[in-house]
Amino acid sequence: MEIRTFDALGSTNQYCKLLDLKQTEEFTIIWALSQPEGIGQRGNRWESEAGKNLTFSIILHPTFLPPQHQYLLTKVLALGISDYLIDLLSNEAIHIKWPNDIYVDKRKICGILVENHIGQKFESAVCGIGFNVNQSSFSDWIPNPISLSQITGMEYDLQTILEALVTAISERYNQLREGLIDRLDKEYLSRLLYLNERHTYRYLGEEICATITGVNAFGHLLLQTDDGKTIVAQMKEIELLLTGE
Ligand code: BTN
Repeated sequence: MEIRTFDALGSTNQYCKLLDLKQTEEFTIIWALSQPEGIGQRGNRWESEAGKNLTFSIILHPTFLPPQHQYLLTKVLALGISDYLIDLLSNEAIHIKWPNDIYVDKRKICGILVENHIGQKFESAVCGIGFNVNQSSFSDWIPNPISLSQITGMEYDLQTILEALVTAISERYNQLREGLIDRLDKEYLSRLLYLNERHTYRYLGEEICATITGVNAFGHLLLQTDDGKTIVAQMKEIELLLTGE
């Protein structure tokens, strides 16, 4: 693992676009202490107080992964980060909110933005991770945020956590390389937030009540509606309507 540390970068994922990724070693980490223009899922901003949290991108070359299985990389990241948290916070409920948000007790501690570069085959992936560590309060517009120090009351050394997170991710990445797909699938599903529970979603602009039943091989969310219909939803099509628990 090579960590390249910067005092400030607009966005670590954007910075990676300036690199010749093919010439960049596997598990090169681009880490910014301050990231004023962080990018989130669905075109949202990722806001993070300077010097308080981890905002970094991991460069990978999953050339062994068929492009149609690219969703497995998302699982690897979500599993690695949740492994780390399960180890650290043994008595807390750690979940993965589809597709790859990490939640502690219904609050989001970590967001992931994967940008894949696929030509004839899988060439590289920029895996952007925003992990809330020492921040003590968040802007009102951020839905359900939480940081590690809000959970435990402790202050953490960012580099130590960064290294532990990347180690946990690399262990899961090795499982992917070894082809342990069933194991990754099962463990991902076992951590999925609201699996087999009925909740309210906005699906294609309409409010619906449905139950998550799984995730298919392409990473699409499977749900069953109250009248027994199966929905296969892509990320842009569906949104969980949080109840503010
Ligand atoms: C989400 O919306 O949940 C995804 C958030 C991803 C944020 C990280 S922070 C490091 C990397 N650089 C970015 O600009 N975004 C990702």
